[in-house]
Amino acid sequence: MSCDRPGPDEARELLRSARAWVEEWAEEGVVSFPPAPAVAPDATAPESASPKKDAAPSPAEPASAVSAPETPTGPGGAAALARVRDELGECTRCELCQGRTQIVFGDGNPDADLMFVGEGPGEQEDRQGLPFVGRAGELLTRMIEAGLGIPRAEVYICNIVKCRPPGNRNPLPPEVSACRPFLDGQIDAVRPRTIVALGKPATSLLLGRDVAITRVRGSWHDYRGIPVMPTFHPAFILRQYTEQNRRLVWEDLKAAHERSCGRG
Ligand code: URA
Repeated sequence: MSCDRPGPDEARELLRSARAWVEEWAEEGVVSFPPAPAVAPDATAPESASPKKDAAPSPAEPASAVSAPETPTGPGGAAALARVRDELGECTRCELCQGRTQIVFGDGNPDADLMFVGEGPGEQEDRQGLPFVGRAGELLTRMIEAGLGIPRAEVYICNIVKCRPPGNRNPLPPEVSACRPFLDGQIDAVRPRTIVALGKPATSLLLGRDVAITRVRGSWHDYRGIPVMPTFHPAFILRQYTEQNRRLVWEDLKAAHERSCGRG
């Protein structure tokens, strides 16, 4: 998967923030970043042979091996996702269509075990047509890749609304309602084993009530039969870049990843 490149200044800033994130995590001992992470393709062969949603958990297996790229498992998510995208069309169901550059549908593996649901596209996402490619997105990507040790392309990422809210305000209830069938369609298409809800708006939608993210993060919930782990939005972490917040998000992501691998 490729994304358009940010400008040099922004790229430097993104790199700086990502590096700081990784270094500080390592220094704190919250997690030991594997020096040679991830992926031992041959170790994944037995897993890849079976349809992944049915694969038995393998407690002895390292996380990196379980999360490695898999053999495509047939029509599954991709075709179903394409149908949802077709149905969305050049949507004018709510007022967000008026300010958007383009629809930001979703990104990643249509058969992902782990799905991230954010709030709505920001400026960069609106420009590039991909979710989480701005500053918060760079942080999310580093959390997935450096933290969990899996390529971003292995997870599926989308938002509760597919068009940028003006000035990055929170999406309004009618906008969320108009987009909800498409989020549901994406979840049904991908059929992830776990969903990470990023921040209050996504969590409130998936939990069906107005939540305080500080209260519900870190505990398991359920949406359409799929375990949901709420956590802080990466934009919040960028604003409140404390050891405590980073530790909490790390715990949440690790729990979600492990459960998506059939552990935990
Ligand atoms: N914040 C979100 O919630 N989603 C994005 O895609 C980008 C930033």
